[in-house]
Amino acid sequence: MFATAFLDIPALQGASGTVTLPGSKSISNRVLLLSALCQGTTVVHDLLDSDDTQVMLAALRQLGCGVQVEGTTVTIKGLGEQLSHPEAITFFMGNAGTAMRPLTAALSVMGGDFTLQGVPRMHERPIGDLVDALRELGCRIDYLGNEGFPPLHIGQPDLKLDAPIPVRGDVSSQFLTALLMALPLAAQDRSITIEVVGELISKPYIEITLNLLARFGIDVERHGWARFVIPAGSRFQSPGTIHVEADASSASYFIALGAIAQGDGIRVNGVGADSIQGDIRFVEATERMGAKVTSGPNWLQISRGAWPLKGIELDCNHIPDAAMTLAVMALYADGPTLLRNIASWRVKETDRIVAMAAECRKLGATVEEGPDWLRVHPLPNGPFTPPAAKGQWQAASIHTYDDHRVAMCFSLAAFNAAKLPVRIEDPKCVAKTFPDYFEALFSVAAAEATQIPVICIDGPTASGKGTLASRVAAQLGYHYLDSGALYRVTAHAALQAGLSLEAADESRIAELARQLPVHFEGEQVLLGGEDVTDAIRSEQGGMNASKVSVLPAVREALVQLQHSFRRLPGLLADGRDMGTVIFPNASLKVFLTASAAQRAERRHKQLISKGFSANIDSLRADLEARDARDMSRSVAPLKPAQDALQLDNSSLTIEASVERVMVWWQSRQVFS
Ligand code: DC
Repeated sequence: MFATAFLDIPALQGASGTVTLPGSKSISNRVLLLSALCQGTTVVHDLLDSDDTQVMLAALRQLGCGVQVEGTTVTIKGLGEQLSHPEAITFFMGNAGTAMRPLTAALSVMGGDFTLQGVPRMHERPIGDLVDALRELGCRIDYLGNEGFPPLHIGQPDLKLDAPIPVRGDVSSQFLTALLMALPLAAQDRSITIEVVGELISKPYIEITLNLLARFGIDVERHGWARFVIPAGSRFQSPGTIHVEADASSASYFIALGAIAQGDGIRVNGVGADSIQGDIRFVEATERMGAKVTSGPNWLQISRGAWPLKGIELDCNHIPDAAMTLAVMALYADGPTLLRNIASWRVKETDRIVAMAAECRKLGATVEEGPDWLRVHPLPNGPFTPPAAKGQWQAASIHTYDDHRVAMCFSLAAFNAAKLPVRIEDPKCVAKTFPDYFEALFSVAAAEATQIPVICIDGPTASGKGTLASRVAAQLGYHYLDSGALYRVTAHAALQAGLSLEAADESRIAELARQLPVHFEGEQVLLGGEDVTDAIRSEQGGMNASKVSVLPAVREALVQLQHSFRRLPGLLADGRDMGTVIFPNASLKVFLTASAAQRAERRHKQLISKGFSANIDSLRADLEARDARDMSRSVAPLKPAQDALQLDNSSLTIEASVERVMVWWQSRQVFS
């Protein structure tokens, strides 16, 4: 996950490959509860790992369900007949609405001595309509705080199930879902009827509930969207194994990607033609815009068809979440796109009509908006620019309003023909449904190498390059290349192979360097799977590296490996010749220095803190000897690049140095 303040996405050129999406949140928690309520054991595959599912699993454990977690597979031993709980239980629901509502209903019908509470925000989220419906059928529920809101206490019910049970359908479909999942517990010897009061909203989510109930042996009779009957004799039965579908709303970004980007197309695994999620119909909208889509039961394959895309007019009531993605696709169309019937956008994580309009405008687009509609005009798209295009692409810093969908949508603007980067503010907001969204995007998206930013930090031994570079990398969410480690590992491998580190063995060392099986895992350096971190980090390791680094064939052999670190979204590279030889066109080059006395002192402190004995004078002599060799060698000697900015950090804290580099970096960015 990118937990940085912002994430700059370089201009993207194409996309191909396969993504496997996380499981749907709505399906995950429904399946967990149903598995708990039934007889027998259920193996749930591809469960979403999120706050909401953690809360549900904890509650099920408290109820006495057997719960075994192995990665994204969870095995649940259902409660079966053991529904009575004489002891008092307090459940902590966090802020998980998809756990709170169905559990309230199920526990109320089961009966017991239960308290349900959550974080302060949970205590501000209304639950009165569900409680009213449950009380109507004889459940005993008391408010422990404010009327109409959690926390709640649940006692033993005195169920009256003969009359139809009314529930409001126009506030949240989650109330109806909760009743539908709880009432089969009480339908052994009589049928139970639920009547929806008011127009039912979010019907696709009720479809998901009915579908999953059927998988668990409950066939609800549906009369339009107004009346639901749970037949007498209903009983939860485990399906044995069940796969949680990937989230169809999350799929929308990759479906759009396939439609927008040049390449061999995108395959999305985990959700497809058999999906029970309403947002899967986003596929039809993208096909109307020109995408080529093929599908199987649980996969989709999407590629570019018409280009530019076709502007469309669409009633989006059936795909409220995924429709946001259409607003960004509209920038690549041949004419305006009108999204109608999107009033629900106004009451989501943020007012999404305002947000989408404002951020599309920042990109340069012309946008019109109404109470429940949005019209987006396209921007120029290179040689294919339609006459309808208005305005010009601009490099924008996208505000994301703590709304995961805004962040994911606008990443797609990086495909603009103007080759401008896009800045996404607060990228970690995607964690709500898709923590690794940007990683997934970068795994299939491609950029021209020259578009991927590189920041070089060169300088002498012990100047603090590594610390500075890795801190700046962490702030930008960029990759980090410690090129010195490559020379250190090469020397280590050469010695292990029985070679000398002198010119006599140059070609054989170069051969080793060319195929170096080196991997970085956090701070660890692995050579062919073996942890060589400590071995290469010693003073001797540095000296050995310096020796092999004067050999031209060895330097040449490591060039390709170093270039391969230039990956999306960007790179921080530290070493001696990053700015002069390896990345001569880097966007920012810093030459970091500190006095020899300072550097010797730092190295001394570092060694002492690790429990090594060290002598400051000999350390300084070693440093100076190493600098002399690195500066005087004939190939790629240590020296500042002509366009490098010099930073002497002798009297600066690490934080101050990081701040200086960040200011330099920001001042070179194009974001308005
Ligand atoms: O940065 P370091 O101390 O880990 O580097 C060890 C040696 O490797 C250094 O003394 C010279 C060599 N080196 C190099 O020649 N070019 C680089 N880009 C990085 C390191």
